This record gives sequence, C-alpha cells and structure tokens, in this order.
Amino acid sequence: MRIGLIGAGRIGALHASTLASLPSVTGLVIEDVDRDLARVLAEKVGAETGDGLGGLDAVVVTTPTSTHRALIERAAAAGLPVFCEKPVAPDVAGTRAALAAVRAAGVPLQVGFQRRHDAGITAVRDAIAAGTLGTVHLVRSATHDPAPPPPGYVAGSGGIFRDCAVHDFDAVRFVTGREVVEVSAAGANRGDAYFAEAGDVDTAVATLTLDDGTLAVCTATRYNGAGYDVRLEAHGSAGALAAGLDAHTPLPPITAAAPYAGFGERFRDAYVAELTAFCALVAGTGPNTCPGEEALAALLVAEAADLSRREGRPVRITEVAA
Ligand SMILES: NC(=O)c1ccc[n+]([C@@H]2O[C@H](COP(=O)([O-])OP(=O)(O)OC[C@H]3O[C@@H](n4cnc5c(N)ncnc54)[C@H](O)[C@@H]3O)[C@@H](O)[C@H]2O)c1
Repeated sequence: MRIGLIGAGRIGALHASTLASLPSVTGLVIEDVDRDLARVLAEKVGAETGDGLGGLDAVVVTTPTSTHRALIERAAAAGLPVFCEKPVAPDVAGTRAALAAVRAAGVPLQVGFQRRHDAGITAVRDAIAAGTLGTVHLVRSATHDPAPPPPGYVAGSGGIFRDCAVHDFDAVRFVTGREVVEVSAAGANRGDAYFAEAGDVDTAVATLTLDDGTLAVCTATRYNGAGYDVRLEAHGSAGALAAGLDAHTPLPPITAAAPYAGFGERFRDAYVAELTAFCALVAGTGPNTCPGEEALAALLVAEAADLSRREGRPVRITEVAA
C-alpha cells in the first residue's frame, strides 16, 4: 500500500522510519510545509516527497495539533483511511467535527494513543479483564518528561492535560474498560515562567472517579530530571500489576541501564505495533485499535481536569460534554 505521511517533525520522523520498514508499505510519500525537511526525511528513510493525495491508500497525520482537523477532513473527503497523532483537535468542537467528517465519508480514523500497544499496559488491561487482580480499587498513571518542551510548543499545546496527561486519561479508560465521571485536578509552576505566561502549569495531578467508583490518579511533570518515565499501576483486592518498570526506568536505585531519553525509546515497540495495526486496518485485515471516539472521551477528561485546576473544584464529565 502507498501511505502519505504529513508532517516531518519529531514524531513524523519516527513514524516515517517505522512505515518505511513495514513489509505492507510499498510506497511512502512525505509532505511538510517545510519542503526541505520533507526532502531530508524522505532521503533518510527511502521515501518520496509530494503534496497531493492522488495514488495514496491511506494518510498518516503527524503535524501540530491545530492542523489535524483540516487534514483529517481533507483525507476523509478523498475517501482515505486516516491515522492521526493525538489529540484529534485542541478542543471538543473540533474533535467532534473531525469525527463527523470521517463518519460521513465512511473511512476509519485511528488515533495515536500508542500506550494501547505497549506490552506492559496491555498486560494490565488483560489482567483486569481476566479478574486476576480482583476488584480494582486504584489505578495510578504517570507521564514524567525529562525536560520541558520549548515555549512555542507550550503556547500551542492546549496545556498539560490536553497535550500530555491525555495519554494517561486514555490509558486509564483502556485498562479498566470504564468511563470517567468526575475529575479533581491541581497544578503547579516551579519551573520556567513561560508555562504560567501561556496559562499552563508544568506539573499536575488529576484524580479521576470512574463509573464503577474506582479511583485513578494521573500525575504529569515537565521536569523529571532523572529521565523519561511513563508508568501505570493497577491495585486490586487480589493483586497488583505495574507497567513500565524495567531496567531503564529512571527511578534510582532500580535503574540498571541508561534511562529512557524520551518517548521514542520508551514506546519504540508500541509505535511499530500501532502502525502495523493501522496498515492491517487499511488492508481490511484488522480492527481499528483506537477509533476517534476514544480520543474524544480522553479529551473530555482533559477538559474537566483543566477546568477543575482553574476553578479549584471537582468537575463532572457531563458538564464539559454538554
Ligand atoms: N503519541 C506520541 O507519543 C506523540 C509524541 C510527540 C508528539 N505527538 C503529537 O504529534 C503531533 C506533532 O508533534 P511534533 O512534536 O512531532 O511536532 P513538530 O513541530 O516537531 O513537527 C510538526 C511538523 O509539521 C509540519 N507542518 C505544520 N503544519 C503543516 C501542514 N499544514 N501541512 C504539512 N506539514 C505541516 C511542520 O513544518 C513540522 O515539521 C502533535 O499533535 C503532538 O501532540 C505525539
């Protein structure tokens, strides 16, 4: 199949090299508003450059969040399946519009919540589904970045909950199979001033209440100097399971090898698995492992967390979904 990849930045470069290595991908066409960047990446991974949708079987969108909706709508209008990086859009209305476009066109939209393809996190989901943890009372999910992104990224990111903890919100829903009904959140700024200047925080905690009463705690920071640390734990009446604890986890004294530098290393296998799944979806041989509706649900949790943090009160999901 021929895949068009739009956006040759950080995650675009990662996905381009994965796609170029997949046997089912016979052609890869890279597009970026920065044509030099597209050309350099295409040369590196053995792809072509181009800026139209003609001759493509599917599109992979790895541009900044603010551009996703228009690119999803363009691919949908051309009748092409779309893989889009998270989040689908920075706001609920834009997310709903993108979902409506793919629904009307009858094309699948798979969203890049790669934790759904992480071996440890899927093992936690399987254990909860099989009942081996008993009644799950508590889920803890963490995204701790080693160093903050630049000011320009922060200003356009939608804030720490929509940009970063949205992965944790999706992972909590994914492993438990439950919906979030209420969120209480807090944030802090003890790092660079540009977070506060953008109305954002550099560190945050969100407590989620799920629809069966289970509690989940999601923590996120942009300043985890020890390294990139993404973990998830589920604690139940019959047992507990942790995902993301291995020799690279930057948690002295358990770190036994070089700590993860970033998402590229931590989720290498998950990124390959999610794009392999997308190619199977395009070929009609596999399911959509993360439909757009899942991204909307995670974004609603982020919206509630942001409002809770700003107003210092618990926020129910029904309030932000209205
Ligand atoms: N799933 C993950 O782990 C993960 C990790 C990083 C980023 N992301 C997501 O991926 C997206 C991109 O993030 P990034 O850090 O790679 O950004 P980036 O700024 O490094 O790259 C974006 C690229 O898109 C290009 N671009 C901008 N507008 C365009 C347009 N209209 N058409 C074509 N090209 C365009 C830019 O020139 C740039 O090269 C964001 O939505 C982010 O949330 C996801």
